[in-house]
Amino acid sequence: MTSRETLAGRLLHWYDRHHRTMPWRVAPDQRVAGVRPEPYHVWLSEVMLQQTTVAAVRDYFVNFTRRWPTVAALAAAPRDDVLAAWAGLGYYARARNLHACAQAVADAGGRFPEIEEGLRALPGIGPYTAAAIAAIAFDEPAAVVDGNVERVMARLFAETDPLPGVKDRLKSHAAGLTPSHRPGDYAQAVMDLGATICTPRQPACGICPWGADCRASAQGIAEHLPARAPKKVKPVRHGTAYLAIDRAGRVLTVRRPESGLLGGMLALPSTDWAEAPPEPAPPFAADWQPLGEVRHTFTHFHLRLAVDWVQAEFGQGAMAPDEAEATMPTVFAKALRLARQPAG
Ligand code: ADE
Repeated sequence: MTSRETLAGRLLHWYDRHHRTMPWRVAPDQRVAGVRPEPYHVWLSEVMLQQTTVAAVRDYFVNFTRRWPTVAALAAAPRDDVLAAWAGLGYYARARNLHACAQAVADAGGRFPEIEEGLRALPGIGPYTAAAIAAIAFDEPAAVVDGNVERVMARLFAETDPLPGVKDRLKSHAAGLTPSHRPGDYAQAVMDLGATICTPRQPACGICPWGADCRASAQGIAEHLPARAPKKVKPVRHGTAYLAIDRAGRVLTVRRPESGLLGGMLALPSTDWAEAPPEPAPPFAADWQPLGEVRHTFTHFHLRLAVDWVQAEFGQGAMAPDEAEATMPTVFAKALRLARQPAG
């Protein structure tokens, strides 16, 4: 195999010319000029990018940093404002941990730890995120391994054993290649390679800076890697959400319990979600009428959510529908949109 220095050098040379531009990034020429990325920006973007695409994250990142320019400002914000600003990004435990992490960092003087171990101790920061922040914000030679990097490593080394079993081997390949020179740019370069050239389908091996080094490309099997153990089929769960609308057109909202799915988020009242359709559990007795059904897929199940509605007066928890839609997780925003569709 080509040496680590040669591989890293080829990739960094490619990255200098073809890196993607993102609002949280410092471009390689600026880095050379001594500009350092803002650790707050790196952390915020990495938490947002967990399980979420760059395209979906961009506007949220810009909005958060406008509204809360520093980690101290974010720490001082009411938690419900942070949860509301996160609505639509999914995986809501991230938003609760984000706020808790901001408070921990602010309490410790407002500076992020610079090494993986210290970062790992913070809420919501797992091995991937700790490595990414250490590398990108502080130029530590940390091995940053996300799904993109696993794919690149599986191909470069033609690892044909399936995920998840082969994970440790892919991680040790990634660690073995991480250079001590420009490790932050290198980490972002592998991610960009995975996102733009070493793509899941139809990788562009002909223009890849590692094309000549890649064992899977040489064997013509790049597109088939990484191999994966067969996926478990997601079960379908059922539930009913309740849309109460008052005379002013406002809707009844509730806060979900802290623990559990969508914990702490603003929501419509709902039954539990179970594999057998659960007993009705309306927030108050009334002549509830079926409005329709929304479907939404979570990490571990598909949800079919019946939506019942009633016109009623209810006092506490009333909110304008536009605001509710902007503040609730996507599944409830879908339920609210049902009420706007013309009948039929
Ligand atoms: N995905 C996760 N972190 C990223 C980053 N810093 N750049 C590009 N894609 C990413």
